[in-house]
Amino acid sequence: MAEREPKVGGKGTRLAVAVVIVLAVIAVAGLRLSFGSTTAPMDKVYIHLVVEEKTIEVAPGVAMPLYTYNGSVPGPVLRVRQGDVVNFTLTNRANNALGHSLDFHAAKVAWNVYYRTIAPGQTLTFEWVAEYPGVFMYHCGTPPVLEHIAKGMYGMIVVEPRDALPRVDKEFFLVQGELYDTMDEMMNAAPRYVVFDGYVNKYIAEPLEVKVDDVVRVYFLNAGPSLWSAFHVIGTVFDRVWIDGNPRNLQLGLQTVSVPPSGGVIVDFDFAQAGQNPFVTHAFADASKGAVGLFNVTGGEAPPPPPVGTTTTVRIVSGAAGKTTDAYDPNPVVVVIGVNNTVVWVNDDTLAHTATAVNGTFDTGLIQPGRSATVTFSTPGVYEYYCLPHPNMRGTIIVQAAPAH
Ligand code: CU
Ligand code: CU
Repeated sequence: MAEREPKVGGKGTRLAVAVVIVLAVIAVAGLRLSFGSTTAPMDKVYIHLVVEEKTIEVAPGVAMPLYTYNGSVPGPVLRVRQGDVVNFTLTNRANNALGHSLDFHAAKVAWNVYYRTIAPGQTLTFEWVAEYPGVFMYHCGTPPVLEHIAKGMYGMIVVEPRDALPRVDKEFFLVQGELYDTMDEMMNAAPRYVVFDGYVNKYIAEPLEVKVDDVVRVYFLNAGPSLWSAFHVIGTVFDRVWIDGNPRNLQLGLQTVSVPPSGGVIVDFDFAQAGQNPFVTHAFADASKGAVGLFNVTGGEAPPPPPVGTTTTVRIVSGAAGKTTDAYDPNPVVVVIGVNNTVVWVNDDTLAHTATAVNGTFDTGLIQPGRSATVTFSTPGVYEYYCLPHPNMRGTIIVQAAPAH
C-alpha cells in the first residue's frame, strides 16, 4: 500500500525511499504476473527535484538571479503515464536563502499538507496518482507565488494518456514564461522579457529542425506567471489541438491557441514547404520581448519566390520587328521608384530584340525568343528606347520619384 503521508526530513527519508523502491518493484512485478501483458500495470515512478537558487543567463550578456528546479529554467520536463503512482521528493538545498515548495497541477491532494514550504536543507516526499492525462504545470507555491514563478520555479509534467494519441514524426516541449527585474514590474505584469524555455529568442539561435510533411507535435505550457499566451506557428494551421493535452479535449483546425497562465496544450501540425517558419505568442508586445522561435523545415522543394510587386512587365509582342510604338506592350510605361521601378522585358516574338536607351543609359542586349531581361530605374526621368536590330521599334519608360511617406 502506498505511503500517502508527506515526509519531511533528511537521512531517514532517503532510507524510507529506498525501501519503497524495493517494495514497488516487487509490487509491479506481481501485478504484471496477475494481469498479463495486455493490461498496463500501475507503475510507481520516482521523481526527485532539487531547488537551487542561482544566477542564469537569460539573454546575450544578461544574467538574472533566479530560483530553479535542478538548476534550469524551466525545470526538467517530467513524463509519466496515466495511472502511475508518482513518488515525489523535493530537496531544498542547504545553501539556499529561502523556503520553497512544489505544486503539481496534475494531482488531487490537500494543498496545505503536500505543497508546504520546506526550509533550506529540508527534504519532503509525497505520493500522488496521475489520474488525468495531459500537459500540466508544476511550480513553487511559496508566497509570494508571483515572485517564485517569475523567478523560474516552474516546469511541465506530461501525463501520457492510457490510450495513446496518434503517432507523430517529431515531438517538442516548449514552456513560455516571463522574466522581471523588479516586484513593481511583476505587479504590473510588465515583464522585461517573455521567453520560450528561459532564454530570449532561444530558438532563433537554435531553430527546431523538422522535415516537410513531418507530423510535428508540440507540448506547450504557459507558465506565466501573469500573461496569456496566444500560441501560433506562422505558415501552418494546427490540424489537431488538445486543450490541456487531454485526448477528450480535441479541437480541429485552429490558427492560434489561447493558453492561460498555468495552462497546457498539445498541438499537431505539419509544414507543406521547405523554408523557415517562426512560432510566437501572437500577443506581439510579448513576442517582441523575446518569445519568438523558428522551425527550420528541410527535405522538400522550396517554393519559388513569389513576385514581390516591384517589377513592371513589358512584352515584346509577336511580329515586333514590323511594328513601331506598338512593338512593346504596354507602351509608354510609368513606374515609381521603390514601387515598381524594375522593368522586365519578355520577348514573345520569334526573333531576338533589345531595349536600348536612346541616351545610352541602359541596354538589355539581345533578348532571345522566350527569354527576358531586367533593368532597374533609380533616377526620375523620361527614357526613350528602341530595338538595336529593328530601330523602328520604339518605347518609352517614364520614371517618377518615390512617393512621400
Ligand atoms: Cu520557491
Ligand atoms: Cu500572424
